[in-house]
Amino acid sequence: MSDPLFSVTDQITLVSGGTRGIGRAIAEGFAQRGSRVIITGRDQSAAERAAEQIDAGPGEIVPIACDVASPDQIDQLVSRVDAQFERIDTLINVAGVNRRKPALEVSESDYDAILDVNLKGAFLLSQRVARVMLREGAGSQINIASLNTDRPLRNVLPYAVSKAGMSSMTRALALEWGPSGIRVNALAPGFVLTDLTRKLWSDETMQAWGLEHTPQRRLGVPEDMLGTAIFLASAASAFLTGQTIFVDGGFTAGWNWPIGD
Ligand code: NAI
Repeated sequence: MSDPLFSVTDQITLVSGGTRGIGRAIAEGFAQRGSRVIITGRDQSAAERAAEQIDAGPGEIVPIACDVASPDQIDQLVSRVDAQFERIDTLINVAGVNRRKPALEVSESDYDAILDVNLKGAFLLSQRVARVMLREGAGSQINIASLNTDRPLRNVLPYAVSKAGMSSMTRALALEWGPSGIRVNALAPGFVLTDLTRKLWSDETMQAWGLEHTPQRRLGVPEDMLGTAIFLASAASAFLTGQTIFVDGGFTAGWNWPIGD
């Protein structure tokens, strides 16, 4: 049974950073439900390769290169999507990078490289897409935040700052664009196994800590993010804006202290 309340069928969905990991799983899931999905990555051939590998079902995957650290490329991307599809229903700001090191070792170029992609790029893409959505008087924007959004993990300062900013940006844009029919929410994944994190979680100490503090006793997979993304893109969340939803196996629910059973 297909339920129109949770439908993304016939939507035009733009996913920044859709060539692998969380973005790719969301793009595939939307396409399989009949959405036409534009995936972007820094490199055109990587985007095309991903598009060939994705099973688009009744939908479509359209690969377009766009480095979100480049305002010109953002403008070209959105102009092209607007010209081809004439609207954008959902934007999912997924593109993100990280460099793990102590704050004292973070260089200015580390800081800029992370903030330029994770926060400034996301903002510029949101703003450019909003100009298209405003014309329709409708749209949903979903920003991928992180556990670092509320409380930083140690040794990832620029990343944590960018993800805290993402949540603040989500609320600020919800305030400004709510009257125009654009909803803006954030999805904050817990620990998800992807190319960005695989090496980190192959460390046994890290893995034991992650499992101990995640009530569902497992790390996430990219597909775990799909249901919440569909919810945020569909009519089911029509009265929801400015919120950050944690999809983290319960990690942020509380402290797992050693009191015994
Ligand atoms: P990933 O490294 O597997 O995928 C990142 C995607 O972003 C790729 O498609 C890559 O091409 C794209 N990208 C990177 N820099 C870009 C740029 N300058 N322009 C355009 N695209 C660019 O990473 P993963 O794990 O799938 O992460 C996706 C998002 O989820 C990121 O924003 C990350 O911060 C966030 N996240 C991931 C978590 C995890 O445990 N994997 C946890 C919380 C948040």
